[in-house]
Formats: sequence, C-alpha cells, structure tokens
Amino acid sequence: MKIGIASDHGGFEIKKLLKERLGNMNYEIIDFGNDHLDPNDDYPDFVIPMANALSKGKIKRGIAVCGSGVGASIAANKVPGVRAALIENYFAAHQGVEDDDMNIMCLGGRVIGIELATELALAFLRATFSGAERHRRRLQKIQQPVTHFFG
Ligand code: RB5
Repeated sequence: MKIGIASDHGGFEIKKLLKERLGNMNYEIIDFGNDHLDPNDDYPDFVIPMANALSKGKIKRGIAVCGSGVGASIAANKVPGVRAALIENYFAAHQGVEDDDMNIMCLGGRVIGIELATELALAFLRATFSGAERHRRRLQKIQQPVTHFFG
C-alpha cells in the first residue's frame, strides 16, 4: 500500500521513527516532509501537499503528525476528498476507517510515544471501510452543502 507521511517540527521525531518502522513492513512510504528538524516550520506546508496527493489518488492513506495533531487535522480536511481525524486510541484508529472511511490519520507527536503511534498506524492502515449503507448515507450527508440541513 502506498502511503504518505508528513509532519512539522512537533511531529518530526515520531514521523522519522514511524517511517522506519512502516518501511520495514510492506508499506511504500512517500515522505512529504519536513525532511529536517526546523523549529520554525509550519504544518500546512507539509500536510496540505500530502492531502492533495491523496485527493489525486497518488497515495491511498496518509499519516500527519504535528505537536497535538489538531492543526494537521484542520489543514488536511480543507482538501476535497480528505477525511482526516486526530486519533489517540486504538478503537478510533480502526473504526474511523470502518465506519467513516477516514483516509488521513493525525497524531500528536508531543502527546504520544512511538509504541502507541505504531499500533495506531497499523490499526489505521489495516482497516477497511465497511461500505455499510448507513455509513455511506452519513458520508453522503457530509458531502451536502451546509444549507441542505437548514430546510
Ligand atoms: C507547532 O509548535 C504546533 O503548534 C503544531 O505542531 C501543532 O501542535 C498544531 O496543531
């Protein structure tokens, strides 16, 4: 599976370790940067290009790491076709894919350690969307313009 990974300085260390670990498994990893630790870099500069690559079908899943995972999530969700979420527990890591077709998982590099990050990444990457009618219906509702909900 071709996956993208991206981080700012807040997620740089976790990105580096995750890239090594997942690369030693059967994942083809495209690193969208940052390629060095720069305390002044900005997460949108790395997360948005990765989200755009996902939107264009160049990668199947993405992992974005910033300090908290919040900024990465907000940035990634700007891009059409992206369903990104901040994940901190195992259940959400796989259920977010099974029910909500999450395609970018965001992690807080200042919040979790590499062992939990690896387990969450594997749960995310191994999960598949169930395709159940109720979940498709909900995803279709999200695609509606917000005015759809106001009658
Ligand atoms: C950068 O210092 C930090 O604000 C960023 O990594 C992230 O936590 C934003 O959500």
